[in-house]
Amino acid sequence: MPMVTMRQLLEEAAKGGYGIGAFNVNNMEQIQAIMRAAEELDAPVIIQASRGALQYSELIYLKKLMEAAVERHPGVKVALHLDHGNSPETCKQAIDLGFTSVMMDGSLMADGKTIGSYEYNVEVTAEVVEMAHKHGVSVEGELGALGGIEDGHGAGLAVDDEEHLTDPEQAVDFVKKTGIDCLALAIGTSHGAYKTLRYDKDGNALPPSLALDRIEKIESNLAAAGYPAFPLVMHGSSSVPGELVDVVNKYGGKMKKTMGVPMSDIRFGIERGVRKINVDTDGRIAMTGAVRKVLMESPEKFDPRDWLKPAREALYELIKGKMKDFGQAGHGSEYEAVSLSEMAKRYEAEKAAV
Ligand code: G3H
Ligand code: 13P
Ligand code: ZN
Repeated sequence: MPMVTMRQLLEEAAKGGYGIGAFNVNNMEQIQAIMRAAEELDAPVIIQASRGALQYSELIYLKKLMEAAVERHPGVKVALHLDHGNSPETCKQAIDLGFTSVMMDGSLMADGKTIGSYEYNVEVTAEVVEMAHKHGVSVEGELGALGGIEDGHGAGLAVDDEEHLTDPEQAVDFVKKTGIDCLALAIGTSHGAYKTLRYDKDGNALPPSLALDRIEKIESNLAAAGYPAFPLVMHGSSSVPGELVDVVNKYGGKMKKTMGVPMSDIRFGIERGVRKINVDTDGRIAMTGAVRKVLMESPEKFDPRDWLKPAREALYELIKGKMKDFGQAGHGSEYEAVSLSEMAKRYEAEKAAV
């Protein structure tokens, strides 16, 4: 089966009331781990690559690895998504490469650091929608700014951060003006392992404080404006499990005490319209712990397969757990895949109807 679109996966997830993990990849082992988990659990899945990942894999390796993945696992419904595209040009590059979905992150300017104006965000996102939908490719937009995107070290939600959060009123206007397929929310989550500013008196990390109430508001505003069940996206959704951090530190790592987004918060989101859940950091920690363990316990080993295999296995186990937790497991074969060209026709028809 060719790759499917994110739009279809998220529409189906909305019908079934579950979430879909969007997992970041850079190399073969990560793709293998995710595809194996998806096949075994009959889970639809989103595999995503950042600009950094595209650079690392020199574009062509990632493209070919994904082609191999769908050939090796023909029954898996998988969308290939560009994570945090910084400009229409980057999104075009991904579409030309065969991605079935792109994110135009116009919350930041093309440098990926400076916060952009609302007008800029609407303009570049609408431009990407126009271009992508012609090819049947889905588009994710973002409103409000996530923490920690510049350096990968999140800061959690500080009391004075409110102005960077997604404005529930503006969300409706943004969806209307851009025509996006799903909306990434800024509710206080941030990328990376260090997402919290809160510690107890003994120095133990407490979960980051999130503006979860905004999810409910945004969902109901969108529904009232004629966008029922509009798919919402949570970035920065790694839970940073203590047991994974402990493995890294036990075998010579030096990660600080930290805590990510608890599954209870993610579940709260899923119950209120979150359909795409972005996870990268947890996979990085799982793989790094597995590699450290081998290299520390068996310093005589020097065959990369000796540490890549356990790393791949650790990621596979982690992803299986996430797929069960998010609810996507068991839903892959419930529906037929819609092709990109069919999706392009649907967009055309939707456009003509307004
Ligand atoms: O957007 C954040 C993801 O974790 C990707 O990170 O840009 O280091 O590949 P990266
Ligand atoms: P984490 O850093 O929490 O895994 O978030 C990843 C992400 O949001 C990618 O876009
Ligand atoms: Zn993100």
